[in-house]
Amino acid sequence: MSDPYGDRGNKDRSITKGGSSTLQAGRYSGQPGPAASDEPFLIGSAMTGGYGKGPDILHDCTIAVEKGEIAVIVGPNGAGKSTAMKAVFGMLDLRGGDVRLDGESIASLSPQARVVKGMGFVPQTQNIFTTMTVEENLEMGAFIRKDDFRGTMEQVYDLFPILKEKRRQKAGELSGGQRQQVAVGRALMTRPKVLMLDEPTAGVSPIVMDELFDRIIEVARTGIPILMVEQNARQALEIADKGYVLVQGCNAHSGTGQDLLADPEVRRSFLGG
Ligand SMILES: Nc1ncnc2c1ncn2[C@@H]1O[C@H](COP(=O)(O)OP(=O)(O)OP(=O)(O)O)[C@@H](O)[C@H]1O
Ligand SMILES: [Mg+2]
Repeated sequence: MSDPYGDRGNKDRSITKGGSSTLQAGRYSGQPGPAASDEPFLIGSAMTGGYGKGPDILHDCTIAVEKGEIAVIVGPNGAGKSTAMKAVFGMLDLRGGDVRLDGESIASLSPQARVVKGMGFVPQTQNIFTTMTVEENLEMGAFIRKDDFRGTMEQVYDLFPILKEKRRQKAGELSGGQRQQVAVGRALMTRPKVLMLDEPTAGVSPIVMDELFDRIIEVARTGIPILMVEQNARQALEIADKGYVLVQGCNAHSGTGQDLLADPEVRRSFLGG
């Protein structure tokens, strides 16, 4: 096996076009939003801040994802990748910068209000209810919905068939890769307009990682842009339209996934040569 990842990648450059799924909230049809501009669909721009009264972790840090794209954030442990995601989701008070979704500042909104606005977020840790069944986890995911979410649940089961098989099992009894599917499925239950994933392939084997990436590409093709943090930098950049390398809370490099993979400095410092 020369290159196990050689034939992967988000090669379909028009992932929004073929979307037949209704996993996403209806309005996302490629039409410009109300405050249409050149700015990305979701952007945390020039974010500065940290936890509580502690020191700043993020310094003028910007991460973003465009409609129809997958954006990937990589960087060393402790670089602030999760902190940047939490900041975009509203889990820390920023001292500077802004968070904008579809042209609207959402920086003053609570995380729950951001979910209502269309953000789906899968945190790095504690992203499922281990003592609840798979199906109960998905039901919890639909907490903001007052309509019938059975159809969305069926779509999640179509995307992750193993979850349908195990729907009556406690989520804590599942394998690592299956738990991550539960976590992503839970986030999809709100029919988000954008999905944020913090290390969706943490702790899984290369084969399972590959499968998860394929499912993530499939979600993106339904028209849900994806902003994700990944430890598996090389593989993640291969499927990324845009990539960000964060170091010590700052943007060290950014560009297309291909640009970053080709950048000698990025290769030497972050991709193992
Ligand atoms: N809840 C918290 N309270 C205070 N400091 C925190 C908290 N969470 C993280 N930090 C600090 O913020 C910095 C960045 O951590 P963060 O978890 O964002 O890094 P990361 O890039 O996601 O790392 P990893 O690759 O290990 O997930 C670290 O110095 C960490 O100790
Ligand atoms: Mg992290």
